[in-house]
Amino acid sequence: MSGVHRPGGDRSRGEPASPRAGAAAATGDAAAAPRPKVEVRGLRVSFYGEEAIKGISLDIHERRILGIIGPAGSAKTTFLRALDRMNELSEGCRTEGQVLIDGADVYGPGVDPVALRKRVGMVFAMPMPLPLSIYENVVYGTRLKGTAAKSASELDELVEACLRSAFLWDEVKDRLGSSGLKLSGGQQQRLCLARTLAVNPEIILLDEPCSGLDPISTAKIEEALANLKERHTIVLVTNNTKQAARASDETAFFLMGELVELGSTASIFTNPKDRRTEDYVTGRFG
Ligand SMILES: Nc1ncnc2c1ncn2[C@@H]1O[C@H](COP(=O)(O)OP(=O)(O)OP(=O)(O)O)[C@@H](O)[C@H]1O
Ligand SMILES: [Mg+2]
Repeated sequence: MSGVHRPGGDRSRGEPASPRAGAAAATGDAAAAPRPKVEVRGLRVSFYGEEAIKGISLDIHERRILGIIGPAGSAKTTFLRALDRMNELSEGCRTEGQVLIDGADVYGPGVDPVALRKRVGMVFAMPMPLPLSIYENVVYGTRLKGTAAKSASELDELVEACLRSAFLWDEVKDRLGSSGLKLSGGQQQRLCLARTLAVNPEIILLDEPCSGLDPISTAKIEEALANLKERHTIVLVTNNTKQAARASDETAFFLMGELVELGSTASIFTNPKDRRTEDYVTGRFG
């Protein structure tokens, strides 16, 4: 989709930054050095003076899936909400440190949080379709103020593409006019993913998107994410360590507002460096 802000060259238009990057893009070389899309530096978030995130620094690589695991209250949700400045909607919240997207601090002067949230889409744990048709749920974001109007046929194409990407098209293509609220929980969650995709965010944040879903819906969401990472950078918070092991390229383990360990998913699950990570991934606590 046009109109997406891509500082630093647009690789989707075939403008690699270097010959090496060009070769990697052409061959889909997964081993090529990934570029940090998001750089979090010294992030601290507190609510009414109580620190929830106690100084986290990490990189989120472009077109990869970063899984975040950790027990309840370890600040996984707060971390996601720091990336799109949602925490500031909560009273008593204070944020320090930097969140750089493509090198620019999202907390810098002049950054419009509403514009930021178009670049950084969010899917929540509880699917929350709007009381609208399936079709209108998908196109909702594109009808908001400040978004270029699309023709009816462009909207039709967008709806089909987003529902296909969310692995929902085949189940709803014959009833696009019926209410999104009539879908099953697993279908509603995929509808919410399609709605997020329709505004073509560069980064997709998912907060326990499969909690409460059956294994088939869970597998469809994981399959959708595996395809979506070709075009988007994804952060997947999950309370299911097995899901992180299956779906993410890198995994971060959070504990009480701190980053204990971050590494390739294989290393976190088979050769963790920190005893607390090992205890958590083997189910000895959490
Ligand atoms: N709006 C808020 N006001 C006050 N405290 C908050 C707020 N949001 C989060 N917190 C606190 O921040 C800490 C981290 O909470 P958070 O929801 O980020 O954890 P989590 O890892 O997502 O947990 P869970 O696995 O249960 O979803 C908790 O102590 C919580 O009470
Ligand atoms: Mg949470």
